[in-house]
Amino acid sequence: MKQYNFDEVIDRTNTSAYKLVLMEKYFGSNDAIPLWVADMDFRTPDFILDAIKNRCDSGVLGYTLPSADYTTSIAKWLKYKHDWEVSDKFIAFAPGVVTGLALAIRAFTNPHDKILVQTPVYPPFLSLPNEHNRELVINPLQFHSNTFEIDFFDFEKKLASGVRMFILCHPHNPGGRVWNADELMRMAKLCIQYNVLMVSDEIHADLMLWGKQHIPLAKLSPEIAQHTITFMAPSKTFNIPGLASAFFVAENPQLFAKMQQETANFHLNMGNVFGCMATEVAYNEGKEWLNQAIHYIEQNILFVRNYIEQHIPIIQVVVPDASFLVWLDCRKMGLTSKELKEFMVHKAKVIMNDGATFGQGGEGFQRLNVACPRSVLQQALQQIETAINEMFTK
Ligand SMILES: Cc1ncc(COP(=O)(O)O)c(C=O)c1O
Repeated sequence: MKQYNFDEVIDRTNTSAYKLVLMEKYFGSNDAIPLWVADMDFRTPDFILDAIKNRCDSGVLGYTLPSADYTTSIAKWLKYKHDWEVSDKFIAFAPGVVTGLALAIRAFTNPHDKILVQTPVYPPFLSLPNEHNRELVINPLQFHSNTFEIDFFDFEKKLASGVRMFILCHPHNPGGRVWNADELMRMAKLCIQYNVLMVSDEIHADLMLWGKQHIPLAKLSPEIAQHTITFMAPSKTFNIPGLASAFFVAENPQLFAKMQQETANFHLNMGNVFGCMATEVAYNEGKEWLNQAIHYIEQNILFVRNYIEQHIPIIQVVVPDASFLVWLDCRKMGLTSKELKEFMVHKAKVIMNDGATFGQGGEGFQRLNVACPRSVLQQALQQIETAINEMFTK
């Protein structure tokens, strides 16, 4: 069996990598280890790169539609990975998950409608409602015993205040919390009771750790499926986010048709020549690569947890159930959010996502991307350790 090399350090300078180009703008530094944006520093799998090269060899990159097998390959993957049986007629292309969320907001809500999200959360969840002239409503998650819990009392109160749409992050980003069947069922029942459309962002679902199983929200019951639109993508899973390729699943024909219409209204339904093809290849050929990638990520998370426990005990590691983003509780350092960010960027010279950008409950935390070679992680942790030691011996 082929062994993939996740230890390889690949220089991404001069590739216009988002995380490098925007370091100066967002963090005021070009001189730090960038472990923020949620893509992988691992080589994109060879079978995807080969397929792209082969497509280039055809010589013409004209307007291209998703192939007839595009949705079939997705349906097969959903069955294999999540034991979720979905007819491929309820699956369609979206240019990205965030674009899909924006389209769903436009398709299913009106200006000034209320949209509910759970904080702290992936920042576009916070900005999208306002960007589309809707009202953001938050159900703050409770952070107890180093994990997130849902405040159902507040959740229901917010739904009852006239919310039209609930955007779920499942698994949750940040924190990597995988919502269990009971939690999902409770949220879904309440949404149905208050006639709130559920939009479930499940982009991290393929990256389950420690043998855990993801339960797609819409898989819970046919009734829930009728009230849910799910967004997924191969982008996080196989490190192809630069190809802008995602998809949605909506088993309610009316929701499906409306979502497709909204996508078509903006002429975003065609996809791009490499994205749809890469999706197919990833889902048809990616099982072994993904198993190995997940194993490497798990080892990286344990490495981070052990290193921090032993050498930087002032920081507490939230071990995720899924994906490659580790939420670090730095509150004991006693710094404001601004001071913490400045400290990590300019003293430790490690760039992580500033917890405050994830909204209420994110202050005092940093989000570390561990989808990188272990040697890079080790260097970053050593720099944080040294900077903290210096701070406390002054
Ligand atoms: C929860 C979540 N949704 C969506 C995205 C981005 O998806 P896309 O690049 O397909 O818009 C991310 C990326 O970090 C994410 O964490």
